[in-house]
Amino acid sequence: MFKEREYCSDQKTSDVGKRILLAGWADRIRDLGGIIFVDLRDVSGIMQIVFDSSVSQELFIKAGEIKSEYCIYVWGVIRKRSEIAPDPNHPTGEIELEADELGILNRSLLPPIPLESGANIGDDLRLKYRYLDLRREDMKDAIIKRHIFMQGTRRYLTDNRFVEIETPILNKSTPEGARDYLVPSRINRGAFYALPQSPQLFKQILMVSGFDRYFQITKCFRDEDLRYDRQPEFTQIDIEMSFASPDKIIEIIEGMLKSVVKDVTGNEITIPFRRISYDDAIASYGCDAPDLRFELKLVECSDIFCNSQFKVFSSALSDKGIIKCFAVSDDGKISRKKIDEYSEYAKSFQAKGLPTTRFKNGSFEGGISKFISEVEKEKLVERLELNENMIIFFSSDRSNVVNDTLTNLRKKIANDMGLVDNNKLSFVWVTDFPLLEYDETDKRFYAKHHPFTSPLPDHIDLLDNMTTDDLGIIKAQAYDIVLNGVEIGGGSIRIDNPELQKKMFSVLGITEEEWRQKFSFLIDALSYGAPPHGGIALGLDRILMLLLKRNSIRDVIAFPKTTKGQCLMSEAPSPVSSKQLEELSIKVVEK
Ligand code: AMO
Repeated sequence: MFKEREYCSDQKTSDVGKRILLAGWADRIRDLGGIIFVDLRDVSGIMQIVFDSSVSQELFIKAGEIKSEYCIYVWGVIRKRSEIAPDPNHPTGEIELEADELGILNRSLLPPIPLESGANIGDDLRLKYRYLDLRREDMKDAIIKRHIFMQGTRRYLTDNRFVEIETPILNKSTPEGARDYLVPSRINRGAFYALPQSPQLFKQILMVSGFDRYFQITKCFRDEDLRYDRQPEFTQIDIEMSFASPDKIIEIIEGMLKSVVKDVTGNEITIPFRRISYDDAIASYGCDAPDLRFELKLVECSDIFCNSQFKVFSSALSDKGIIKCFAVSDDGKISRKKIDEYSEYAKSFQAKGLPTTRFKNGSFEGGISKFISEVEKEKLVERLELNENMIIFFSSDRSNVVNDTLTNLRKKIANDMGLVDNNKLSFVWVTDFPLLEYDETDKRFYAKHHPFTSPLPDHIDLLDNMTTDDLGIIKAQAYDIVLNGVEIGGGSIRIDNPELQKKMFSVLGITEEEWRQKFSFLIDALSYGAPPHGGIALGLDRILMLLLKRNSIRDVIAFPKTTKGQCLMSEAPSPVSSKQLEELSIKVVEK
């Protein structure tokens, strides 16, 4: 029966007079007495259907049964809408279907959520009734754009000789950063698989196998604390290349993003993207994922205040701390009350306070100005290029607290002052990351990216010659890509020499026994003529969230999880039967 079904949005004014079959859901219904109008919605769009009692009383009575979200089909003839009625908001707004046959395929309960785009609905309800939420125009748009994004990516990479290869979902547990999701093996009692956090080792091994350009659009799983841009299962565009420099990998990704951004948004972006070193990003923006849609650069001024009379500054410096600040040209708009608000905000990043001062008509006033000497003032004017009515925000503490405070404040103030152009896509590469990062709690170094990242070629020797204290200065051949202040991808050139890989394990405190147990397959593979190789993985959900200007990656994923990792629709995770547990030799310990 549906063989001849057509789509709403395919119908045009030139189709007037054509008899067609449409099927979908009853959207808006208006009963005007002798005429009932039903907006029929299918995946493509909307068509206004007219049930006219003067044409068929029987059909008119049947149409009266239609309620919101009933699934229906309608045969009818396309006609032009009367002059006063055209609806410019719909592509099919100039035409309507005069129904001559109607079938109610399935009735619907009253939807518990409104289905208009942009309706203000609680997230929990949206997730519980996700099948209805996905009927809403903005969700449908996101899911279709996701498809376009994925197809565009596949096309671009295939055209560039990349081969899509699937890697296993049931893996060996080798946690590198986040916790693994574990899957018990029934056949191997007491043993567990882990879901992949990324296909990192498999893609490197594919390079050893000779597939010199690999990609995969793949699900990854990480058991970590969730937030607006993190899901326990998310999708990576995973890429690896042999015989390629970082520049080549960067060039491929830029070409790919240019092409898919055009596919998804219709906009042209300019490549190559800006590049900034990790050290410069931290110095000027306080973080390694800077939002460069606006400037507001941070400036270090520890040297200016080395003899400061201001207790807060002098004690921070004597405690191995630093002083940084940034100046905002606000023309006097930031009020005392607002500054107090910012001061409270700063405290959420461990800052003890937020010293400020205003520069106006060539002199400093208010805030800490009375604690700043004339010489210090002169230096500040020069370094911060103070010239208008500006307010200066300082932070003095350990460098991580200072950077964390000011990077967040910089963003907040830019938003408050309307300095952020929401239509801008600001891509930037952050390069030359440190290879290792010291963890104060565990008192040891961890790999900043992952343990398979190669040091810069002329830093390799430093691994042998460094004292533990100095290891932090070794730089990696690693790069991240950032869009509007969100890390959307990260990659590196890998270690392809088994001896260097073993040394790296040892620097990370991974004993021989441990790496043999976890990674000997990698060391073995690297020992059979491994090519030099490197790659990157992009977070598809995050990129799409930013391109479609959504507030959370949940809004670009068909069936996402809550922050507690639950699917409110299917109610996963859930307890399982004692029989299932028994088969897996698992006993649940009650809390
Ligand atoms: P990394 O761990 O940086 O690199 O991940 C790559 C990108 O994946 C996205 N991402 C996430 N998106 C949503 N939810 C999450 N929980 C989540 N975690 C990460 C981010 C991130 O930039 N194997 C390496 C890549 C490589 O070296 O080639 C890796 O996985 O956008």
